[in-house]
Amino acid sequence: MTDTTHPTGVGADDHQETGGTPRRDFLYLATGAVGALGVAGAAWPFIHSMNPALDTLALGTIQVDLSMLDVGQSITVTWRGKPVFIRHRTEQEIEQAQTTDVADLPDPQPDSERVQRPEWLVMIGICTHLGCVPKGQKAGDPTGDFGGWFCVCHGSHYDTSGRIRRGPAPRNLDVPAYAFLDDMTIQLG
Ligand code: FES
Repeated sequence: MTDTTHPTGVGADDHQETGGTPRRDFLYLATGAVGALGVAGAAWPFIHSMNPALDTLALGTIQVDLSMLDVGQSITVTWRGKPVFIRHRTEQEIEQAQTTDVADLPDPQPDSERVQRPEWLVMIGICTHLGCVPKGQKAGDPTGDFGGWFCVCHGSHYDTSGRIRRGPAPRNLDVPAYAFLDDMTIQLG
């Protein structure tokens, strides 16, 4: 079954920059929700699901509209009961991801094997250690020592490609099966 995910919810976050951490922006989308996103005037919108019950609508295949995401913004969608992180990466993040020498990484994998288009990073937002959801999607979240995501449970640091760089997690954040249907729409599953 296929459904198109449109974000819903209200709220705005001024997304303070803290401690030199790059602004990281976050939209939380409830799969199956239908409605228009109104973000006019919000430079860094923060959208939060207002209805957890919508999570139960997570379907086998969903489509996600990426058009509302500016460079440097992220969304989290629930797919098959799991959080999926989608980030519109900045040029700096892409460069960091592409120029990392992967030979000494715990789970060596070039960035090119983890993305279909460099500007879009799509991955399952579940730490590969013991299953916590890493921080880094929401403005003000810690992003770890490598500017990506940080799992506070036991201190796993992921880079801007979602690769494990430090800490107990044994492998990189998983990349789900997905496809671009057009420049601004992906289908998960
Ligand atoms: S669950 Fe993430 S570091 Fe342990």
